[in-house]
Amino acid sequence: MIIQDSHIVLIGATGGIGQATALELARRGARLTLVSRHLDALNELKNTLPNPEQHTVMAIDITSKVDLASLSEHIQAHGKADALINNAGANHFSMLSQKQAKEVEHDVQLNLIAPMLICQSAFSWLNQPGIMLNIGSTFGSIGYPGYTSYCAAKAGLQRFTEALDRELHTTGIRVLYLAPRATDTALNSHAVIEMNQKLGNRTDSPLVVAEHIVMMLEQEISAKWIGWPEKLFARINQIFPSIVSSAIRKQHATIQNFINRTSH
Ligand SMILES: NC(=O)c1ccc[n+]([C@@H]2O[C@H](COP(=O)([O-])OP(=O)(O)OC[C@H]3O[C@@H](n4cnc5c(N)ncnc54)[C@H](OP(=O)(O)O)[C@@H]3O)[C@@H](O)[C@H]2O)c1
Repeated sequence: MIIQDSHIVLIGATGGIGQATALELARRGARLTLVSRHLDALNELKNTLPNPEQHTVMAIDITSKVDLASLSEHIQAHGKADALINNAGANHFSMLSQKQAKEVEHDVQLNLIAPMLICQSAFSWLNQPGIMLNIGSTFGSIGYPGYTSYCAAKAGLQRFTEALDRELHTTGIRVLYLAPRATDTALNSHAVIEMNQKLGNRTDSPLVVAEHIVMMLEQEISAKWIGWPEKLFARINQIFPSIVSSAIRKQHATIQNFINRTSH
């Protein structure tokens, strides 16, 4: 797609990756609908972007069906969109045995059900040709201790994206999937940041992810994983999962140690 003069709906706009993406898209001349739960943060972001008067904001909780209906109305009132970026997400770093049922449900609701329903609602407000881009995670390809329900949700999001892209192949709508690795945002607690450092897991800046998002939209790339060796591990895990299991087993005590710190 051509980003200049396009209308792009960005969900999860005020987070680390969302803000960097909003700036990169606005710099290239896109008109944005910025979405997350907090109106002040949305307005603050809007006012830092080039041509703030071109963008609109919408404060909704995407896990609420009522709020999702109002998103559809808002976008239709501001003209159809050329692209949707499903970027909102969160996780609870903890062993499944220590999670409350509502945290497990929330991981799946926010990271899988909500983006699926937003894609479904987009049929009424997305132009053809148009793009839906779902932001997944390396953890959608590699089951990792402490992230069971988040891994399940992101894995589901990848398969959903693939199925919908195939389902829509005659319509001009493309459905794309991007899997960032650890990224330096508020999504990760101090304990997770420290654990990643200790385990030698590399972390990207939000700008790196934003640049991949721009590239995927411009080139309509079906799916992309960011970073070595995560990209390779994602492939190895599909073919030889026991190799990845044995690497992760060596990290188990360290992961447990940082989870204990988080839960105290
Ligand atoms: N950071 C990483 O290490 C990493 C790695 C791989 C993948 N990802 C994925 O990248 C995406 C962006 O993450 P990030 O790192 O930028 O996280 P972040 O900084 O925590 O931002 C999350 C964004 O989602 C919004 N959000 C959360 N719950 C929402 C809800 N119920 N309704 C509407 N908006 C909601 C937040 O705004 P409000 O709180 O104001 O609603 C915020 O704008 C996520 O899908 C995440 O899973 C991140």
